[in-house]
Amino acid sequence: MKHWRIEQMDWDAFDASKVDPSIVSLIKSASVVERNARDYTEYLVHVFAGDQGFIDAAQNWAEEEVQHGDALGKWAMLADPSWNYEEAFKRYRDTYRIDVDVDASIRGSRTGEMIARCMVETGTSSFYTSLADATDEPVLKAVCKQIAADEYRHFKLFYDCMHRYLKREKLGRWARLRIALSRVLESEDDELATAYHITNEPADMPYDHKRCISAYMSRALGFYQRKHLGRVVAMVLKTAGMTPHSRLQRFISDAAYHLIKWRQKTFARHLKTAS
Ligand SMILES: [Fe+2]
Ligand SMILES: [Fe+2]
Repeated sequence: MKHWRIEQMDWDAFDASKVDPSIVSLIKSASVVERNARDYTEYLVHVFAGDQGFIDAAQNWAEEEVQHGDALGKWAMLADPSWNYEEAFKRYRDTYRIDVDVDASIRGSRTGEMIARCMVETGTSSFYTSLADATDEPVLKAVCKQIAADEYRHFKLFYDCMHRYLKREKLGRWARLRIALSRVLESEDDELATAYHITNEPADMPYDHKRCISAYMSRALGFYQRKHLGRVVAMVLKTAGMTPHSRLQRFISDAAYHLIKWRQKTFARHLKTAS
């Protein structure tokens, strides 16, 4: 069951004068990644074969993710009427595919898989919250708030499921933290960089990972405020089984905030030299 529908949003309230072009490029990239969620369900169906309760939940999850893509795609076409979401998604599918034909999680266990999914939802819920806080465009603000709420519910879905598997697989806190952090680092891999390339660059321009991830990250990381990082760190610690609200969490949040700002500047520098 979806918690909201695209048709419920007040699309007539769209205000072109309040559109920030750097957000448009991020929204275009995010739209095709979100729409691609059905591939991940296929992967999860293989990994969680026999767990019908989770498979049903994962199928509902994918429909919500696809709706995120469709809502963001619709908004991006209002912001840039020359852009075509369906056509961009088709090109993205032709370029980027995940390997769904597996019989076990690439994270080593079902618990590990759930930890990785928790990290993806941590990333998306903080990303859309930061965009909702940054934009003055009323439709995008409302859409990002709805999506961020969905992403947090998804985090809880995977977190609860992780606990079911933890009882059997017994992964220690450091092992959980290691899987969580390795998934966080994967955000700099090809998925987002390719999405940026397909949705923002000319079709005849060759793909260059460093240029594209720099273009995406230099913009995306710029919207994160200290409070968003505080929430990210609390969710990472919670997933690893550590106390989410503590002096340690505040210390790590401060460090993470400075790290993110430093990374943002590094990506911006890479982008300048690449273009
Ligand atoms: Fe999503
Ligand atoms: Fe999600």
